[in-house]
Amino acid sequence: MNKLMLLGTVVLSVLAFTGYKTVAQMREENKNMNTESAKVLVAYYSYSGNTKEVAEAIHEKVGGDIFEIKTEGTYPDEYRPMTVQAKKEIEDGWRPKLTTSVADISKYDVVFLGSPNWWGTITPQVSSFLENYDLSGKTVIPFITHGGGGVQNTVRDMTAQCKGCNVNQEAWVGYGSRTFGIGGWLEDLGFAK
Ligand SMILES: Cc1cc2nc3c(=O)[nH]c(=O)nc-3n(C[C@H](O)[C@H](O)[C@H](O)COP(=O)(O)O)c2cc1C
Repeated sequence: MNKLMLLGTVVLSVLAFTGYKTVAQMREENKNMNTESAKVLVAYYSYSGNTKEVAEAIHEKVGGDIFEIKTEGTYPDEYRPMTVQAKKEIEDGWRPKLTTSVADISKYDVVFLGSPNWWGTITPQVSSFLENYDLSGKTVIPFITHGGGGVQNTVRDMTAQCKGCNVNQEAWVGYGSRTFGIGGWLEDLGFAK
């Protein structure tokens, strides 16, 4: 075994040990998921309505339950001060208290989890949801809405904050409330309905 192969083997072993999965591995697991019988929750946070629209479109196609993440805290009406406050909250790692609750998270196999892209990452409200609910062992499928920046660090950060979850990296990433193409995306994930 040459040095490069040895290094590769060591790196793969460390990744496997830490629970890291490659996109190919996640795709394989997804193929094996029985989407017919899976219990599905569509959970989302939406400030101005776009992510809510996408959540509803997903829910309409996959069924299961839908849940709106709501929290304590308010934002200024004006857009700019609102974004400034949100930026500070993200930088401070603020976790607002949830004011809505999922009755029994343990019953779900698959959680579609929606967040707007805020300053390149997921919102503090979605981070609160991830810290309050044990999603370990579940398949989590992100859906992200944005204002032109695309995915940025949203899926990466959701993956890091979702402890022990199988976060599918084939996320929905759509501009605003765009839902065109959602049916095909869900079919690719194995949700043919
Ligand atoms: C505080 C704040 C920060 C934002 N930051 C970004 C950003 O970094 N990149 C981007 O593409 N869009 C950004 N946007 C736009 C939103 O991601 C986009 O409008 C999203 O669809 C809003 O979802 P909602 O209507 O469900 O709240 C930001 C919006 C707000 C309010």
